[in-house]
Amino acid sequence: MASKLTATSTLPLPNSSLTIPRLGFGVYQSPAKVCENSCTTAFQAGYRHIDTAQFYANEAQVGAAVRNSGLKRSDVYVTTKVLSASGSVEKSYQKCVESVNKLDEGSGGQDGYVDLFLIHSPNAGKSAREEMWNALLRLHKEGKAKAIGVSNFGIAHIDGLKGLGEVFPPHVNQIELHPWCQQREIVDYCHKNGIVVEAYSPLVRNQKAYDETLVSIAKKYNKETAQILIRYSLQKNWVTLPKSDTPARIKSNADVFDFEISAEDMKTLDDLDEGEAGAIVQAVKNS
Ligand SMILES: NC(=O)c1ccc[n+]([C@@H]2O[C@H](COP(=O)([O-])OP(=O)(O)OC[C@H]3O[C@@H](n4cnc5c(N)ncnc54)[C@H](OP(=O)(O)O)[C@@H]3O)[C@@H](O)[C@H]2O)c1
Repeated sequence: MASKLTATSTLPLPNSSLTIPRLGFGVYQSPAKVCENSCTTAFQAGYRHIDTAQFYANEAQVGAAVRNSGLKRSDVYVTTKVLSASGSVEKSYQKCVESVNKLDEGSGGQDGYVDLFLIHSPNAGKSAREEMWNALLRLHKEGKAKAIGVSNFGIAHIDGLKGLGEVFPPHVNQIELHPWCQQREIVDYCHKNGIVVEAYSPLVRNQKAYDETLVSIAKKYNKETAQILIRYSLQKNWVTLPKSDTPARIKSNADVFDFEISAEDMKTLDDLDEGEAGAIVQAVKNS
């Protein structure tokens, strides 16, 4: 089954007829000067899904890359994230509309949209989370965001959104995930509830490139360590979001569909889990 994955394989989003490409392209710390080129290289390499955020300050460049790609808008999947609450639902909503306009000006009389809008972080507290979620619910109702979700949310954060509007559960939860930080409790909760799990920092920002276990598995499959980590992520049923501004790496990171990691080697990688201590950005708080 897993060997049949391709660069455009998708997962279904809960309570909808929508799907999301399983391979995404992250653009955190992709400077505005190079981001458009990196996205263009990614499209040429077969990626059809870009993950940006207000915080990354490159939404306009992602939008330009999508427009100039020659691809149909409906064949590209674009995610962004609201950074913070602006003080009222209306103000947060307007801030999100600004992002939509940067990413998709709309064409042929159609309004622009993003495919997925996430709350970037739960850390600002309950009222901020509710304000941002209410803004996203409005965006969703108006078709400016086809799907809405969260990032870095634990179980209690997600449960706190129940009853606020028509979308529950959120379509997606984007969290840090790689062999050293598997966050099994929140992943199980999401998968049981149909919430798509997205893996950020799937390459551990290359910090584990010399890990003995990873290197030996990479040698066995004649692949790069980054390719093993991306393939691992996909075989865990996570949407994976590797980032690179290096053209050769952008291409090699998408070249992961001609092999499959065996169940035994998946288990070896699973055994590297260090829990919260393995996080390089942040692990979620579940209660
Ligand atoms: N929601 C959140 O809070 C959150 C947090 C973090 C990340 N994210 C998302 O997840 C995406 C990925 O995470 P990330 O950017 O933190 O880290 P990552 O994808 O794990 O690693 C990116 C780093 O690895 C390097 N790299 C990429 N491919 C490589 C390869 N084949 N060999 C060696 N090095 C390689 C890149 O360098 P070069 O660019 O120089 O090639 C870059 O320094 C982000 O871009 C963002 O979209 C979300």
